[in-house]
Amino acid sequence: MRHLLRPLDFTTDELERLFDLAGDIEKNPSKYAHMCNGKILATCFYEPSTRTRLSFESAMYGLGGQVLGFSDAGSSSATKGESVSDTIRMISCYADICAMRHPKEGAPMVAATKASIPVINAGDGGHQHPTQTLTDLLTIRSLKGRLNNFTIGLCGDLKFGRTVHSLINALVRYDNVKFIFISPEELKIPEYVKEMLIEMDIPFKEVIRLEEVMPELDLLYMTRVQRERFFNEEDYVRLKDFYILNKEKMELARKDMLVLHPLPRVNEISVEVDEDERAVYFKQVQYGVYVRMALILTLLELV
Ligand code: NCD
Repeated sequence: MRHLLRPLDFTTDELERLFDLAGDIEKNPSKYAHMCNGKILATCFYEPSTRTRLSFESAMYGLGGQVLGFSDAGSSSATKGESVSDTIRMISCYADICAMRHPKEGAPMVAATKASIPVINAGDGGHQHPTQTLTDLLTIRSLKGRLNNFTIGLCGDLKFGRTVHSLINALVRYDNVKFIFISPEELKIPEYVKEMLIEMDIPFKEVIRLEEVMPELDLLYMTRVQRERFFNEEDYVRLKDFYILNKEKMELARKDMLVLHPLPRVNEISVEVDEDERAVYFKQVQYGVYVRMALILTLLELV
């Protein structure tokens, strides 16, 4: 039985197959509309989510399956003290596959050791968010036509943003990808990530000003400041509007640069940018559904 806990759980060849499948689902949705008939997805979300949970639900419904779960730890038996290990044993009797989000790093990994169904990590604390990474990779591959030979700027909360950590983890396996980390001093990319890049001989640089590097970028990955992972509100308020991508800054960028964002957006991208055809964050949401459909089919061994 297979799980998806980290982006690296799939080889690049397996990812290619997954993305091809997602592409086919996009073109021929009716071919897949009943493939999960009789199957149940459990969404166990111990932390708030709109996009990811609904994306999983939409994916399962699109395949003809059904969904059960909870969207708030407060409404689950976690409030009675139940462990994740016990919860997943029970869920294994109710569902065929489970997507789990948890504020504690590693919780879905613990669940996977006790589960008798595939477990998908839907985000664990500030650690990883592999299905967002699959979404990001599919978006880049579909719109740029490749997953190599580009410079990507990651901007915002690089310290706490799990989507950033996951995406870097996945991109280091492709050729000639250069990283530019754009963040305030307080929200810099963790040392362990830089150490990994140095060890792998992958070029990167760190800057504070977004304007300075805009012309160099093929891709700009914006992120929000992760309020819920801050220790005090004062720091959050000071840093939350550090970056605001607007029309003016977009003028500094290449004509074919793409702007991605895992969403939710707070203030870091001004709504005027939405009209720019280089802004692809809402397209990204649609790719997220296709790739989750492909993932469910793959983990359930239905393709
Ligand atoms: C991200 C997350 O949960 O980490 N959201 C998402 O799943 N698309 C990004 C975020 O919350 O900032």
